[in-house]
Amino acid sequence: MKRVMITGAMGRIGRVLSNAFREKFRLVLIDRAECDIDLGSQDEFISIDIVRQELPNAAFLDVDAIIHLAAIPHASASFDELLPANILATQRIYEQASKFNIRRLVFASSAQVIEGYPLDLQLRSDVLPKPANLYGATKAFGEALGAYYASLGTMSVVALRIGAFEPYESPNLLTLRDLTAWLSPRDAIQLFQRALEAPVEGFLVANGISNNRLKRLALDDTRRRLGYEPQDDAFSAFPELLSKVI
Ligand SMILES: NC(=O)c1ccc[n+]([C@@H]2O[C@H](COP(=O)([O-])OP(=O)(O)OC[C@H]3O[C@@H](n4cnc5c(N)ncnc54)[C@H](O)[C@@H]3O)[C@@H](O)[C@H]2O)c1
Repeated sequence: MKRVMITGAMGRIGRVLSNAFREKFRLVLIDRAECDIDLGSQDEFISIDIVRQELPNAAFLDVDAIIHLAAIPHASASFDELLPANILATQRIYEQASKFNIRRLVFASSAQVIEGYPLDLQLRSDVLPKPANLYGATKAFGEALGAYYASLGTMSVVALRIGAFEPYESPNLLTLRDLTAWLSPRDAIQLFQRALEAPVEGFLVANGISNNRLKRLALDDTRRRLGYEPQDDAFSAFPELLSKVI
């Protein structure tokens, strides 16, 4: 069983992935919050603030791949709030991953990297960054780090431009754009697993939404490059939201 590190493991996406991947991988879970989920006998939790401290070298022992989620995830955050985790600590995680010859790093990027494009466009994964806020700009920087560190040699990097990750129960999808960008928990699990395992060389940006009937982000490349086959559709899962957002 491969060993996979997840930073931000106690967050909304991190919990879903940590619970789902317990059977598939040996996990090294990282978060500044306390661990309150069940761990497998071979799993490890490290309680650490990655802004204040570098991860100990021992954390990387035998690690095959890293999912880097830990960040400030708010579109309205100021640059002072974003700088420590999204820029400085993210660069350190890439640097350590490269130093310890990690095979694959999956970076939680965001559809906010390209939110500056008009809303009536469907965006492919190869469009240039056009953030509408500083949070999106920090995620564009995280993608640029991925391109750089992948170019150094052994490590490949998949940056997932995640849309609106929301649970099935009481999803916080407030606009038509949010519905078109929904990423369901079930599809997120599949997407991240494919991003860990697909035969990618170098650096890849992939879009990360569900199979929504109308899609803010095109999925052709993600299907082809990662073998991603999303199951959920916001428009059939939440018909009651349609009348509220149109
Ligand atoms: N949720 C979404 O819809 C969405 C969309 C696009 C991108 N993303 C990205 O996915 C990732 C996860 O998002 P989320 O919604 O689960 O966020 P979240 O805020 O629920 O989880 C982030 C986790 O990271 C941890 N963390 C933050 N700073 C840390 C630090 N300095 N040291 C250690 N741990 C730290 C937090 O304690 C938290 O558990 C983020 O990078 C976010 O930008 C999320």
